[in-house]
Amino acid sequence: MMKPTIAIAGCGKVGTTFGNHLSGKGYAIKGISCRTLPSAQAAARLLNTANFSVTPWEITGDADVVFIATPDGKIQENCEEIAKHHGFKKGAIVFHCSGSQPSTILASAEKEGAITGSLHPLQSFASVKLTDNPFKGIIMAAEGAPLAMGIARNIAAELESVFIEIRTDAKTLYHASAVVASNYLVALIGFSFDLINEAGISEKDAMSVLRPLIKGTLDNIEKVGVVNALTGPIVRGDVSTVTRHLDQIRERQPGLVDMYKILGRYAVGLTKKRNELDPQKINELVDLLK
Ligand SMILES: NC(=O)c1ccc[n+]([C@@H]2O[C@H](COP(=O)([O-])OP(=O)(O)OC[C@H]3O[C@@H](n4cnc5c(N)ncnc54)[C@H](OP(=O)(O)O)[C@@H]3O)[C@@H](O)[C@H]2O)c1
Repeated sequence: MMKPTIAIAGCGKVGTTFGNHLSGKGYAIKGISCRTLPSAQAAARLLNTANFSVTPWEITGDADVVFIATPDGKIQENCEEIAKHHGFKKGAIVFHCSGSQPSTILASAEKEGAITGSLHPLQSFASVKLTDNPFKGIIMAAEGAPLAMGIARNIAAELESVFIEIRTDAKTLYHASAVVASNYLVALIGFSFDLINEAGISEKDAMSVLRPLIKGTLDNIEKVGVVNALTGPIVRGDVSTVTRHLDQIRERQPGLVDMYKILGRYAVGLTKKRNELDPQKINELVDLLK
């Protein structure tokens, strides 16, 4: 079966990476655009296409599938510009790649007879990735019109990603969850390092000291789930240890007390779900972490 042809409006890190790996799977790249000419030339060279421009509607009109991979705040405006210049062919599938925006920001393309969706690779692209398939094994989350979902599913399968379809109105929460899992995990580990530094272990050594604990905890979450993976003073109802933690943090790093308390309260919530701890102890912990 003939594969759909592709145009990429906004051929930066994600656009070029998609283009490169889709081209490797036999999808013809019909054209690419960037905001600036040197970027467009560089991307066109990498993707081996002679059709590049700084004017997106010049390169989108013939493509079966158009990726608008410009920065999140520009997607809607870029789509409207292409639509205004009748740059989508009828029945074309138009995707954007933002994790936080819904496909409804592509409404202007729908008015031109295109079919819209969002296709978000749950991966961090700090640069264009041409070697080793960076889509392999990652989540490719999509939402939008059913026909767009069919194409999204095929693309995810070709790129060896795990396809999931999410609700359009749940897009922002899905993205918030990814931000917490990735960015806030970094923040959390930074918090833990701040405390271990106070205990005399250097930033340099903190990771090797804590790595087995961090990895073991992630393994436990996978094996027994979040609620049952919780260990330590809160789930044991060890009020005196939590009191001493708070006293020491207040003395040495007062700016971190609130963070300890907020996360502690979340851990008390998990403990309640276990239904094992005496309610009296739960109340004492709640009071302490207020
Ligand atoms: N990077 C990631 O980790 C990642 C992961 C998943 C999804 N995404 C999503 O993928 C999309 C693209 O992100 P990216 O990281 O690939 O961005 P990027 O590398 O900065 O590339 C952006 C592209 O859009 C063009 N562009 C920039 N400003 C523009 C404007 N005002 N009008 C029109 N075009 C403009 C750029 O052209 P010039 O090069 O000429 O400026 C470039 O071609 C975003 O929706 C993002 O949320 C990113």
